[in-house]
Amino acid sequence: AQNAVIYKLNMTKGYTLEVRGVIDQGANRFAIDMGKDADNLVIHFNPRFDFSDDKNIIVCNSTQNNVWGSEQREPAFPFQKGTETMIAFKFENDIRVKLPDGRQFAFPIRVPTDGIQYLALYNFHLRSISINF
Ligand code: GAL
Repeated sequence: AQNAVIYKLNMTKGYTLEVRGVIDQGANRFAIDMGKDADNLVIHFNPRFDFSDDKNIIVCNSTQNNVWGSEQREPAFPFQKGTETMIAFKFENDIRVKLPDGRQFAFPIRVPTDGIQYLALYNFHLRSISINF
């Protein structure tokens, strides 16, 4: 289920977005999507508890005109269903993702964008969002 969507974030390089919320109790995965719009995602951040062949792994990808790129998998998995979590995304030349246990990884910005406008949350109940420059 899509739980929240924002259409005019107006974020560019230099911004950090921090999202805090509760992972749905019944979720087999959750997602935080960000991009120019719903069809052009700079990052689809998708921790999977149990989805297709994936168990307890983070899958990241991007889209261009609604077509998926190649997946990047991160074995870190500091998430539990039904609990509150916090993820930070720092937009620079790439996207630095900071997990709630402090671990970080980078995901490339594959298609240059003049601004990140769109944010959508799936199976994730938003508690707070902060944007810092
Ligand atoms: C697909 C899945 C999409 C998205 C994508 C990421 O298998 O159906 O929702 O997670 O992987 O590459």
